[in-house]
Amino acid sequence: MSEAVRSILRPDARPTREDAQEAAPATDPGFLWDFWYPAVRSTAIRGRNLVTAMLLEVPLVLGRTSDGKVFAMRDSCPHRGIPLSYGRLDGKVVECCYHGWRFDACSGQCVEIPSLSSQDKLKVQRIFAGHYPCEEQDGYVWVYMNSPGTKLPETMPPAPALSVFSDKYKITHLFCELPSHIDHGIIGLMDPAHGPFVHQSWFWRKRGSIHEKAKQFEPIPNGFRMSPHSPSTNSAPYQLLKKIAGEPVTTTIDFVLPNIRTEEDRSGKLWFSSRATVTPVRRDLCRIDFVAAWNLFFLPVSIFRFFGKIFLRQDQQTMIRQAEGLKHNPRLMLIDDADRPAKWYFALKANLIESRRTGAPMVHPMNGPETLRWRS
Ligand code: FES
Ligand SMILES: [Fe+2]
Repeated sequence: MSEAVRSILRPDARPTREDAQEAAPATDPGFLWDFWYPAVRSTAIRGRNLVTAMLLEVPLVLGRTSDGKVFAMRDSCPHRGIPLSYGRLDGKVVECCYHGWRFDACSGQCVEIPSLSSQDKLKVQRIFAGHYPCEEQDGYVWVYMNSPGTKLPETMPPAPALSVFSDKYKITHLFCELPSHIDHGIIGLMDPAHGPFVHQSWFWRKRGSIHEKAKQFEPIPNGFRMSPHSPSTNSAPYQLLKKIAGEPVTTTIDFVLPNIRTEEDRSGKLWFSSRATVTPVRRDLCRIDFVAAWNLFFLPVSIFRFFGKIFLRQDQQTMIRQAEGLKHNPRLMLIDDADRPAKWYFALKANLIESRRTGAPMVHPMNGPETLRWRS
């Protein structure tokens, strides 16, 4: 378990000798392996360019073969470790810049070692550069990060796809980096109590509009759902949607491991669907990728992006400030009910790791539907 999880999970513990020992530098970065993560936008990979990215502290080099297929390799030559991204792609094969070893881009298999003489017995085809399954979905290149030294599952799950509810729709993407451990990024994302303070603005809500809310949650595989409900009456955009559609708005919000929050708003034939993923880059850096699609004729992409960027910047600025405080290893608290989703997240994560370790079915931290109450 990562130090971030550990310190949060025991909010009321007093310092003991054991704690002092546990405070030794943690080596486990607290990542969840064996899931798809978005690495870069699809549009970033063009022609024969090699593009670098980092996921879960693994350096990657990505590119596109001449027939359009994306690939992801570990950005390290198996010969002497120089990043393969300094090499070149001929449309099918990546050639290392140091001694010219050549690797099939999609399988990572070595296809040529130029220095070998006719006497050499080395079996070139047994050498592989690290490579990862790679898929394009919703404008992202997703990489399946299987845990180091393990085999891929026999049947790969598909990369996550955003739900859309009509043939024609608008779609847009935003992102921001947070100088935080993934766990802080995620619990910040699902935190219902920061809205009126961090996202105070004329177009969203005012601090004075705080009122008591009761929301029902239910367990879903690997996560939890805020059951379909009418959204908050103090959020202007939902009020507008209701007015225009002339029908009640229903919102469903899901969180699923490792890092995905989806929201679907429906009102008659009108819909808005969004997904935020918080992806661990390094243990001290994560990135929010936000994609939204809608068929609301009155909402141009430019207006949505204008407000979306403000919203993300507010979260980002808060996380930058929080990181300042977290440098000094403070004790933290999770309170009921506003932080209960965060507690579920930590429990889901711990239970998943445990079930993978033992092979036993994963225990869900929720026993059934639960109503949470908070003021926001
Ligand atoms: S380091 Fe890549 S070929 Fe030698
Ligand atoms: Fe926020």
